[in-house]
Amino acid sequence: MARVTKPPHLRLGLDDCYAIIVAMTREILVTSALPYANGPLHLGHIIEAVQTDIWVRFQKMQGHQCLYVCAEDTHGTPVMIKAQAEGLAPEALIAKVAAEHQADYQGFLIGHDHFHSTHSAENRHFTDLMFTRLEAAGHIAQRSVRQAYDEQAGMFLPDRYVRGTCPRCGALDQYGDSCEACGATYSPADLKNPSSTISGTTPIWRDSEHLFFALGNFADMLREWVASGALQTSVRAKLDEWFEAGLQDWDISRDAPYFGFEIPGHSGKFFYVWFDAPIGYLGSLKAWCERHGKSVEHYLNPDSSVEMHHFIGKDISYFHTLFWPAVLHGSGFRRPTAVHVHGFLTINGQKMSKSRGTFITARRYLELLPAEALRYYFAAKLGPGVDDIDLSLEDFVSRVNSDLVGKLVNIASRCAGFIARGGGQLSATLPDEALYQEFIAARPRLQSAYTARDYSLAIREIMQLADRANQYVDSQKPWALAKDPTQDEAVKAIATQGINLFRVLMIYLAPVLPAMSAKASQFLGVPLSRFDEIDQPLLNAPIQKYEALATRLDPKVVTQLIDTASSANEKVKTDTPPESGKPEISIEDFAKLDLRVARVLEASEVEGSDKLLRLTLDLGDSQRTVFSGIRKHYAAQDLVGRDVVMVANLAPRKMRFGTSDGMVLCASDAQDQLFLLSAEAGVPPGSPVS
Ligand code: MSP
Ligand code: ZN
Repeated sequence: MARVTKPPHLRLGLDDCYAIIVAMTREILVTSALPYANGPLHLGHIIEAVQTDIWVRFQKMQGHQCLYVCAEDTHGTPVMIKAQAEGLAPEALIAKVAAEHQADYQGFLIGHDHFHSTHSAENRHFTDLMFTRLEAAGHIAQRSVRQAYDEQAGMFLPDRYVRGTCPRCGALDQYGDSCEACGATYSPADLKNPSSTISGTTPIWRDSEHLFFALGNFADMLREWVASGALQTSVRAKLDEWFEAGLQDWDISRDAPYFGFEIPGHSGKFFYVWFDAPIGYLGSLKAWCERHGKSVEHYLNPDSSVEMHHFIGKDISYFHTLFWPAVLHGSGFRRPTAVHVHGFLTINGQKMSKSRGTFITARRYLELLPAEALRYYFAAKLGPGVDDIDLSLEDFVSRVNSDLVGKLVNIASRCAGFIARGGGQLSATLPDEALYQEFIAARPRLQSAYTARDYSLAIREIMQLADRANQYVDSQKPWALAKDPTQDEAVKAIATQGINLFRVLMIYLAPVLPAMSAKASQFLGVPLSRFDEIDQPLLNAPIQKYEALATRLDPKVVTQLIDTASSANEKVKTDTPPESGKPEISIEDFAKLDLRVARVLEASEVEGSDKLLRLTLDLGDSQRTVFSGIRKHYAAQDLVGRDVVMVANLAPRKMRFGTSDGMVLCASDAQDQLFLLSAEAGVPPGSPVS
C-alpha cells in the first residue's frame, strides 16, 4: 500500500476517494500498436508512443507495477515485397528496420520495458496455441475464395496490389478495393482493366481454400465486454454500428508465398499478418516474463487481476475491439481491460504527405530538435477522445518557448542565483505556506487527468500554477531586495519558495518530461519520482548549481522539419499558405473568375501527348474546346456526359495541338491524384458557379 496523505484543508470528496483507490498497487500491462517493419517511424507513430509512455510513467510514479511492451510487426506481403525490392531476406530487412525503430523510440524517451518481434519463437508459440484452441472449439471455418492471381509473380494478390479503372466513375489507376475518386468500394474482380502492381500483368482469377475465424460466435460475449466500460463513448458507438451491420467471418489465412507463420495442420497456408500481430503483444510479454522469472499465465488467465490496456490509432480499432477480444476469449485467455483509441496527427492542419514534405520522420525530427519539446507539445494537445491532433509548427514554437522556457524553467533559473549567492542552501521555512498548499492541492485533479489520458487538461492546470509561481516572484521583487544586505534572509526565503514551487511542477511534469525532470532532480538533490514526495517541502537542503534545463526553439530550425527537398515546398514562405506555395489573392482577384457548369459532349485522347485529353464542352449557349492534362487519371470515354466546372473567361491558349479555350477545374490529393470537380446534379450547363 502506498501512503495516502490528505491535504488538511480538503474535505473528503470524490477526489479523495479516487486518491485512495489509486493508492492500491495495481498490476498493469500496457501496449502501443506494433509498427510495421517496412518503413521508418513518423511523427504519427511517435504521438501514439508518447501518449502511451506518459500514461505508463504516470502509473509507475503512482507506485503501480506497470509493464510496457511493444514489438515489430514483421509479417505480410508489404514486408515481403519490400525485402525483395531491396535484395534482402525478409529477416534481414526486419532486423534493420527494428534497429532503426528502437533508436527512434529511445530518442523520444519511450520507456518500453520490452520490445520484441512478431517473427519470434514466443509469438509463434501463442499464435499456434491460440489457433489450435480456436479450431478445437469449432471457431474456425474453411471455404474456397476466388482471388486475383499474378501468374508471372506466382502469387495471389492482396486487393491493394491490383489496380485498374473504377467500375463506377471510370477513374484510372484505382486500388482493387476502393476508388479514391468517387469513394466506391468493390471487389478487385469488378475493376476494369485490372493489372498487378507487382508484375504489371493482367491477373487471372483462381480459387483457393481459406480459413475463417467465426467472429459471429462471439457477438454476445463482445456486447457484454463492451458494456464493461472498456471503450471510449465514440468507439462504442462505432461498435454498435458494426454489431448492427452483422459480424462477418474473418479470413485469417494466406497462400504461399507469404512471409509469416505456416498454419499448423494446413500446410502451404500462412497466418494473415493481422492474426499474429496482436498476439505479438503476448509474445513480447512472454519474452519479458522469461527474462524476469515471471509466469505469463498470471497475466493471461481469464480471471487475472492484471489489467491489460492497449493504445492504438482509430484506423485499427476494428482489429482491437472486435477480433482481438474474441480471439483472446475463444482461446481461453482474458480480454483487454481497455482499448484507448487516439485520433490522427496532422501537420499544419493537413494529412501527413510525402508530396507536401510533411511526412516528418522521427529521425528527421531528432536530427533537428529536442525530443521533450515535442513530448510537451503532444501532451498539451492530447485529450481522451479520438479527435485528430494538429501539429502546427508555428504554435509548436510559441507553446514550447512560452510555456517550457518562459514559464517553467524561468522559475528555477531566476531563483537559483539567489540561493547560490546565499550559500547554496535553501531556507528552513517557506514564507508563503498557503501558496505551497495551493500547489499540492492540484495533485488529485492532475492524477485524475493523467489517469483519464486528459493530458491537455493536466498541462493547462500545471501552466496556470507556473504562472502563479512567476507572479509570486514578480510581486516579491527579490532582485530589488538583494541590493539591501539586511534583506539577505528574505531574498533567500523568496527563492526557496520559488524553488519549491518549481519542484512540485517538475514532479507533476515528470511523466511528460522525463529527462528534464531527471536533470531537475540533480539540481535539487532529491528524487522527483513520486507524486507524494510533494507532501513535504524541500527545506534546509543544499541545491546544485543551476544549468539550463531547456532552451528556446529557433523557428528557422523548426521550418526545416518540412522537407524542403520536396518540390511542393520549394516555394513555401511564411506569408503564403504552406500547403500550396501560391501567393495570396484578394477577393477581387477571385471575383474575376467566370466559373460555369459545362457538360462534356466529347472527349478524346490527344495524339502525341500522354497527358492531354481534348474535351468538347457544352456551355448551354455555346461550345468550347479545352485541352486538359488529366489523361493519366481519367479514361476519355468515361467523361462523356459528365457535368464539370470550367473557367470560362480564361484567355485562349495556343497549344501544339490546337487552341484551348478555357480550363476545367480539378483538385489534387496528397498523392497527386487528380479529381475533376463535378457540378451538382440537375444544374443546367452554362450556369454560373459562385
Ligand atoms: N502494424 C499495425 C498495428 C498492429 S497492432 C497489433 C499498424 N502499424 S502502423 O505502423 O501502420 O501503425 C502503428 C500505429 O500508428 C497505429 O496505432 C496507427 O493508428 C498509428 N498511426 C499511424 N499513422 C498515424 C498518424 N498520422 N497519427 C496518429 N497515429 C497514427 O497499423
Ligand atoms: Zn470511382
